[in-house]
Amino acid sequence: MNILALIGSPRKQSNTDILVDKLLEGARQNRHTGEKIYLYDYQISGCIDCRSCKEKDYVCCLQDDMQKIYPKMQNADLLIFGTPIYWYGPTAKMKLLIDRMRPFIASKKLQGKKAVLVVPSEEGPTACKALLQMFRLSLNYLGMQLAGKLLATAYQRAEIANNKKELNKAYRLGITL
Ligand SMILES: Cc1cc2nc3c(=O)[nH]c(=O)nc-3n(C[C@H](O)[C@H](O)[C@H](O)COP(=O)(O)O)c2cc1C
Repeated sequence: MNILALIGSPRKQSNTDILVDKLLEGARQNRHTGEKIYLYDYQISGCIDCRSCKEKDYVCCLQDDMQKIYPKMQNADLLIFGTPIYWYGPTAKMKLLIDRMRPFIASKKLQGKKAVLVVPSEEGPTACKALLQMFRLSLNYLGMQLAGKLLATAYQRAEIANNKKELNKAYRLGITL
């Protein structure tokens, strides 16, 4: 399986990033291949609801770095959405990406693919309810399958690196993909 990990935290080598690395480590044990990208390294504009993605080739007309991310998403069998909780939702950058996934409704190019959510937050799983619901509905709309989730409690930069239990969970989730 080809995995694409989308990191929606602005903090590299912090909680989201560390958990996703562990997950990928587990996945590689089963010979899955994986690429990880940091959304904050990409220029992503907001969807402007022009609806051009509903016509002809079903592609987005906005010429920004999403044009580099679209083919990566299409080529992946499984997408990891890694985002910390910001105000009980995803980070703004992750939300920009999600809004720009609109071409995939008409093109159906993500249909049948799997998704995994990796979500650290200060308050832990109880703070993730709205985000989980948003992802469940959106993935369902795109014809994707939620294959797993990791909701971890962490606040300080890279704090999760000292949490063996959560790291182990991430690794095991990677192995079971
Ligand atoms: C703008 C902002 C909003 C946040 N909102 C929440 C929140 O609503 N609930 C929560 O539990 N944690 C919240 N947090 C804490 C982060 O989710 C937490 O620090 C997380 O571990 C950061 O992950 P990272 O190290 O991968 O960036 C917020 C942090 C920031 C910067």
